[in-house]
Amino acid sequence: MEPLPGRAESCWTAAATPTRYPRLARSQRTEVAVVGGGIVGLTAAYLLTAAGCAVTVLEARRVGRQVTGRSTAKITSQHRLIYSHLARSLGDERALLYAEANHCGVELVIALARNLALECDLERTSAFAYARDDARIGALEAEARLAQGFGFAADVVRPAPLPFATAGALRFAHQAQFNPAKYLVGLAAAVNAGGGRIFEQSRVGKVARSGGRWCVDVGDHAVESDHVVVATALPIGGPIHFDEQTRPRCHIAMAFRADPSAMLDGMFIDVDQPSHSLRMGRDRDGPLLVALGPTFPTGHDGDVATRMRELEAWIRARIPAGGVVWRWVNEDYDTADRIPYAGELTKKAPGMYVATGFNGWGISNGTAAAMLVADQIQGLRNPWQALYNPERRASARFNQGGETRSAVARIAAIAPGSGGIVRNGEDRIAVYRMAGGTLRAFSAACTHMGCTVTWNNADSTWDCPCHGSVFADDGAVIHGPATKALKRVRVPSDEDRSARQSKP
Ligand SMILES: Cc1cc2nc3c(=O)[nH]c(=O)nc-3n(C[C@H](O)[C@H](O)[C@H](O)COP(=O)(O)OP(=O)(O)OC[C@H]3O[C@@H](n4cnc5c(N)ncnc54)[C@H](O)[C@@H]3O)c2cc1C
Ligand code: FES
Repeated sequence: MEPLPGRAESCWTAAATPTRYPRLARSQRTEVAVVGGGIVGLTAAYLLTAAGCAVTVLEARRVGRQVTGRSTAKITSQHRLIYSHLARSLGDERALLYAEANHCGVELVIALARNLALECDLERTSAFAYARDDARIGALEAEARLAQGFGFAADVVRPAPLPFATAGALRFAHQAQFNPAKYLVGLAAAVNAGGGRIFEQSRVGKVARSGGRWCVDVGDHAVESDHVVVATALPIGGPIHFDEQTRPRCHIAMAFRADPSAMLDGMFIDVDQPSHSLRMGRDRDGPLLVALGPTFPTGHDGDVATRMRELEAWIRARIPAGGVVWRWVNEDYDTADRIPYAGELTKKAPGMYVATGFNGWGISNGTAAAMLVADQIQGLRNPWQALYNPERRASARFNQGGETRSAVARIAAIAPGSGGIVRNGEDRIAVYRMAGGTLRAFSAACTHMGCTVTWNNADSTWDCPCHGSVFADDGAVIHGPATKALKRVRVPSDEDRSARQSKP
């Protein structure tokens, strides 16, 4: 099959300056340990260092390069038709709180970017949620009325300002967009300059309570703290497992060299499925058209490359664009009530704070969650505590898990540069054939809770269909909740395997 066009990296991380914070090389004590250098972790770390707290950030890879650095980076309180949904399901009061939290999140991102002079391509623009069908205009108008009541500059335009046919769009004025990786690189520098300590390539394996303090383990070293903020997208460790009450949702994204005849003015998302999301961006070589395709549960599709090809075809049929420059895959966690879980685990683990389940809107929600956590640590009241309550009753088994989509009968059938799952007696083995033909084999059991991984043929990763862990083709963890690499095993031969299978 033809290789996919473009480079396999987010256009945002490609344009951001690399960071070089040290690894944690000795055990130490601090007031607040922050696990994870994404938008939640770094915003909380910045607010706390600015308030005079001693903060240590532990990042498994490099800051700003995971979910946040691979997002669409719309800074907006317009989350499709969220307010009508929340008003219907949870009442006007909760819908208003959600509006206020996200509005404050949006404004804090903009204020930090401006006040700290972060070079992150920040631009004020409008957010549009568009509908293809006239029958949906009533729903857009109802959302606009509700949003106006909550103080947003919202209205409906007909059609959407897009170069293809739409019925209309809900517009929120005064929203913004940026490069999230550049923003987080700048925010990390501000944390560091304010006295916060940042350690990269320091994956936390365990968070435990010991002697009245939190003990955050990174290999042979540990950070002891009074408070611990677990900001790892899906929390690792801790007494509440968010595995069953959140669900990982995968998105594919492509950045095309922009065509001067089709520069979009605003940020766009389809209110209906299959939904696409659009905005302009830029890399070092100039403007880009950034497009996201329809979503699917992580690890539930054995042919993500075809989704990429479909996204390219979708764009080419609608918007003039140059070549594909960047392409990437990303995931975020959904919740049953579409509200994140964030804040202190006051009943189960006082002093531990989590933030997860942003439903694809964690730039604003994640910033608001970080504000909540920073307030709680300082003993300040915060109006969103009840809204985001991480200990609220969750719908049972929201996450039903999943099965691998990469089963193959024979190792010989795995093409160079590709992976597949084979049976070996009772075991399942994940086999990757490198471009040169050499095979690498791993236990196919995800090191989080044992589900069988799926080969992602767009990003060349092993993706877990249960809680979204992502492993590189060499088995290393890219994205948690897993904290350990896939276990390397001997490559079985097809003949040995069939002999084992045929044994009674
Ligand atoms: C394709 C896509 C597009 C999106 N677009 C938007 C958008 O336009 N607007 C919007 O509001 N939201 C958007 N979102 C959602 C938003 O990007 C996320 O909700 C948000 O970035 C999550 O931030 P985070 O800090 O929780 O996670 P992350 O940014 O992933 O940060 C978590 C960090 O923790 C680190 N980590 C993980 N495990 C460990 C460990 N064991 N030890 C140490 N560190 C660890 C990771 O390496 C990572 O750096 C989008 C999501 C996706 C998937
Ligand atoms: S991420 Fe939980 S089992 Fe794989």
